Amino acid sequence: MSWDDKFSKDAKSIRASEIRELLKILEDPGILSFAGGIPDPALFPMEQVKKIRMDIERQPDLDRQAMQYSQTEGYAPLRQWVADRHTTTETTLESGNILITNGAQQSLTLLATIFLEAGTPIAVADPTYLGALQVFGTRRPEYLRVETDENGVRLDRLEEAFKAGAKVFYTIPDFQNPGGMTIPEDRRRRIVELAHQYDVVILEDAAYRALYYDGPPPPSLFELEGQFLGEGQWQKAGLVIQLGTASKTLMPALRVGWTIAPKPILEKMVLLKQANDLHTSTLNQMIANGLFQKDFDEHTQRLRSVYQERKDAMLEALRQHLPNSVRFSTPTGGMFVWVQLPEGMNARRLLEKALDEEKIAFVPGEAFFAGSGGENTLRLSFSTCSPDVIRDGMQRLSALIQRECVEKVA
Ligand SMILES: Cc1ncc(COP(=O)(O)O)c(C=O)c1O
Repeated sequence: MSWDDKFSKDAKSIRASEIRELLKILEDPGILSFAGGIPDPALFPMEQVKKIRMDIERQPDLDRQAMQYSQTEGYAPLRQWVADRHTTTETTLESGNILITNGAQQSLTLLATIFLEAGTPIAVADPTYLGALQVFGTRRPEYLRVETDENGVRLDRLEEAFKAGAKVFYTIPDFQNPGGMTIPEDRRRRIVELAHQYDVVILEDAAYRALYYDGPPPPSLFELEGQFLGEGQWQKAGLVIQLGTASKTLMPALRVGWTIAPKPILEKMVLLKQANDLHTSTLNQMIANGLFQKDFDEHTQRLRSVYQERKDAMLEALRQHLPNSVRFSTPTGGMFVWVQLPEGMNARRLLEKALDEEKIAFVPGEAFFAGSGGENTLRLSFSTCSPDVIRDGMQRLSALIQRECVEKVA
């Protein structure tokens, strides 16, 4: 029986995630994976989680509250923590500006429903986070693809997209997934100005913001918009909506993320979330809250030092072993290095060989583009392997690329 004629247009437009498909192959323990953009489970704060759970169990009322239905907006102390943490001199956040979601992924889903419908023009970087493209794709928008350079989206191309009528711009300004690039402060300021000039909503995805290794990133678009508008104005005139998550710093399985937005947007999101799943797991929100309230800065500091070593090991090995014709990004945070193979080389075919000959996995870059392109690009993640394993893996992958380059020329 064919279900195709029964599916809605939205259902038909859903794309399979290349990464999720790839993760299935990676269950093979013999494969050395630089594919998944996942945190290292060895760095999960397991002991603190145990303590927080015991602490909840010792308080019968709280313990029951953790298992009861609760409000859609989220666990009040956690919302307050997010609000306080993101309040700036110009913009005071209240818990009414914060919605706790099932990961940042759900924030994207709710925001896509609020702002996009078939044909809505949305500007996205080329390349950008595949999971966002998956979500947006279900709304069948019109993509206005914005070319990037080593500093993120190009301003001239972004302005063209805004002029062409973009209603929304989705961006990951810090240590982008997948490109690894960070937008510098002057470019960020200009993006905020342009958004106001052309009246474009900005969805700022700050998923990797806390994972900086060579000094903190520039102020966020949310912070800069506060400066641009002046004290107290964001609540009335803000166009920047920021998404955050506990997945990259704490544990993804908590499924705790959030949206920071002016209240009229939050109110719409709350209604939609209610229709979607009523609320995010209260127990998980309590655990996230406990982890954020105690020693969170020390914890992220430890993550930074471990990941920094891995990032440096990867960059150093690529510098040493990759042929000169291959270019790669030099991220200062996050989890990813973006590789551009010489024109004409195909990263999908390279992956087949890498799996077959070297038992090494990465993600071909094509999937991160909102349309065609990127066949010669790939994403490497340095988050889960030790520096030695990274050095060995990069040496072998580089040797394979070198062999392929020679073959292509021959
Ligand atoms: C840029 C970006 N945004 C959002 C997400 C989703 O995160 P969460 O686990 O909070 O749903 C990811 C996960 O990889 C991501 O890379």
